Amino acid sequence: MTRKIHTITLNYYDKLLKKYGYSPGSVGWGHKKGKQSLRFEILCQIGNINNSSILDVGCGFGDLFGYLKYKKSKIKYLGVDINSNLIEIGKKIYPKANLKVLDIGQTKSKQKFDWVFFSGISSKGCTYPYIKRMMTKMFSLCKKGIAMNFVGGVIDFKSKDLFYSDVGKIYSITSTLSNRVTIRHDYAPYEFTVYVYKNTKKTSNNIFKDFLESSNFIFDDSLWHPNYNK
Ligand SMILES: C[S@@+](CC[C@H](N)C(=O)[O-])C[C@H]1O[C@@H](n2cnc3c(N)ncnc32)[C@H](O)[C@@H]1O
Repeated sequence: MTRKIHTITLNYYDKLLKKYGYSPGSVGWGHKKGKQSLRFEILCQIGNINNSSILDVGCGFGDLFGYLKYKKSKIKYLGVDINSNLIEIGKKIYPKANLKVLDIGQTKSKQKFDWVFFSGISSKGCTYPYIKRMMTKMFSLCKKGIAMNFVGGVIDFKSKDLFYSDVGKIYSITSTLSNRVTIRHDYAPYEFTVYVYKNTKKTSNNIFKDFLESSNFIFDDSLWHPNYNK
């Protein structure tokens, strides 16, 4: 089944590459300005990515590396993709990026990364069991969390080339990995992003410790509540 999905995926992006060459169009993002940056930015908002290592699964040309360099983020980056044609071009465009042809489903490598991202798994041929396998593998390779985006939501038009994910079904996959999950469907109508976090330690009153430590808020009801302790 995985091989069939990979064959469909390889053919799909090879066809786009032939048509558009090095362009966001070849990785399925169309030509309207800003959408690729938007998706990258939302992935990066998973947490503090500065001084961290990132594995970019399905990296295409490795454009996330270009985006992170533009933002002056200090990161250790590895981009992997099953499509060698995209990777070969990416290596020329971003000679400083570490880009490899690799199917993470097949790798035996135990190397871990702080964050593991996948921007754009939604091409035709995708299935929920495949998404679950990919997410489970990505989660096993991360130290802090994974971020992944999907086409889906309330849709009034469907392209025959895409797999449309149901938010609820994706949430039920993520809940097999962690009970600390964010679903972002606030930035565009026909797509959404999920963050799944590894650190699920909680305080005695059931707040995620990592959330408290990374927030700038002081969660102390006695500071503001007029009836506190009465
Ligand atoms: C929509 S494109 C996005 C490329 C890149 N993430 C970007 O945003 O510029 C999806 C990419 O995922 C790759 N891909 C799909 N399934 C994959 C898998 N199982 N492992 C690695 N790459 C995969 C495709 O070859 C394609 O390059």
